[in-house]
Amino acid sequence: MSARLPERGRPWDELSREMADFKRDDLDWRGGRHAAFVWHADEAVEKVAREAYALFMTENGLGLRVFPSLRHMESDVVAMVAGLVGGDEAVRGAMTSGGTESIFLAAHAAREWARQHRPDVTAPEIVAAFSAHPAIDKAAHYLGMRVVRVPTGSDHRADVAAMAAAITPRTVMGYASAPTYSLGVVDPVAALGALAEERGLWLHVDACVGGVLGPFVRELGYPVPAFGLDLPGVSSLSADLHKSGYAAKGASVILYRDVVREACGRWEFSDWPTGLYAVPTFAGTRPGGAIAAAWAVIHVLGAEGYRRIAATVMQARERLVAGLARIDGLHVWGEPDLYAVAYGAEGLDIHAVADAMTARRWSVGRVRKPPGIHLMLTPVHAPIVDDYLADLAASVSAARAGAGVSSKTPVVY
Ligand SMILES: Cc1ncc(COP(=O)(O)O)c(C=O)c1O
Repeated sequence: MSARLPERGRPWDELSREMADFKRDDLDWRGGRHAAFVWHADEAVEKVAREAYALFMTENGLGLRVFPSLRHMESDVVAMVAGLVGGDEAVRGAMTSGGTESIFLAAHAAREWARQHRPDVTAPEIVAAFSAHPAIDKAAHYLGMRVVRVPTGSDHRADVAAMAAAITPRTVMGYASAPTYSLGVVDPVAALGALAEERGLWLHVDACVGGVLGPFVRELGYPVPAFGLDLPGVSSLSADLHKSGYAAKGASVILYRDVVREACGRWEFSDWPTGLYAVPTFAGTRPGGAIAAAWAVIHVLGAEGYRRIAATVMQARERLVAGLARIDGLHVWGEPDLYAVAYGAEGLDIHAVADAMTARRWSVGRVRKPPGIHLMLTPVHAPIVDDYLADLAASVSAARAGAGVSSKTPVVY
């Protein structure tokens, strides 16, 4: 792959038109045709994120000494997210580029913590449910750790007894999701925390999807299982602001239970010409815009804004689930706790249904095991639930008409 830079620069108005045109085949997330990737609250919130991002686009989160503005906004965001997930004054944390980086930092801290407390362990292992996000495997790969995946229980949540049985003398870390990406169920974090305490493990809670909105959904009266830092045995938690925090992309929070655990996550270096290099994240340079946009969105929405979003997406979920129940052969997988849902089918290939939905211009999330169709509901989905269900009923009929024909579309994230 190689190309030459254009010799002459071109005017921005021409380029911006061209760039807008690049989008023509992109996912129509404004119209709610998407199953994942974009969390859009409304145009007013989008404008705030865009303008706040632009205000701090040039500032660098690597230099908190010279940008006290970013230091202030980052610590405010971290403290507010900690407050949402049961954190107390002891909690420490940082903003990262996303869930993958937050999870990487948690795994790194767990490995260092084990090196200090269990130096006999030379090949550290992480016990995680089959439903855990691959970010933990990516982290383990980079960190020389191994993930032992354990089948989920009949409710599709982490099976605590099976995870306990998978612990070996090499296990240093346990992993829980709140909720899982694929089916949207929250793992039994309280029981996994108790297990972690009993067996001397670091438990990370991946609340990348549910960390910000989950507490508001619970406040509305939905029975969201506890998953916070107030549960004994939870050492770290990740929550993505660029998902249910409705902030701009490039914003997540990694939280450590206390300063001792945070210290395990730090990496410092001074054997180079410029002296001590110490950053709390994997990234060096960090976009000031992402920090600023997260701060502005949290403040413009406030608790009442998130409560409103939570109500909208949960009502959309209820209408979707009720509509699915009216389509012969379809059923929801498990009991989703938040705004992510997946459904499967009896007697027909659900992925053939997915193909028919794709032909009707819906971007469909496919689940391989159990076979299903997945979607993450956001406020832009609320007005299109009926259209979605009408196309779904037609797609089920189309799949039945072609009965015996299985989808050949590979299941790719
Ligand atoms: C449960 C869960 N954890 C972690 C991640 C990784 O987050 P990111 O894509 O922001 O790195 C995702 C992404 O969808 C997720 O759903």
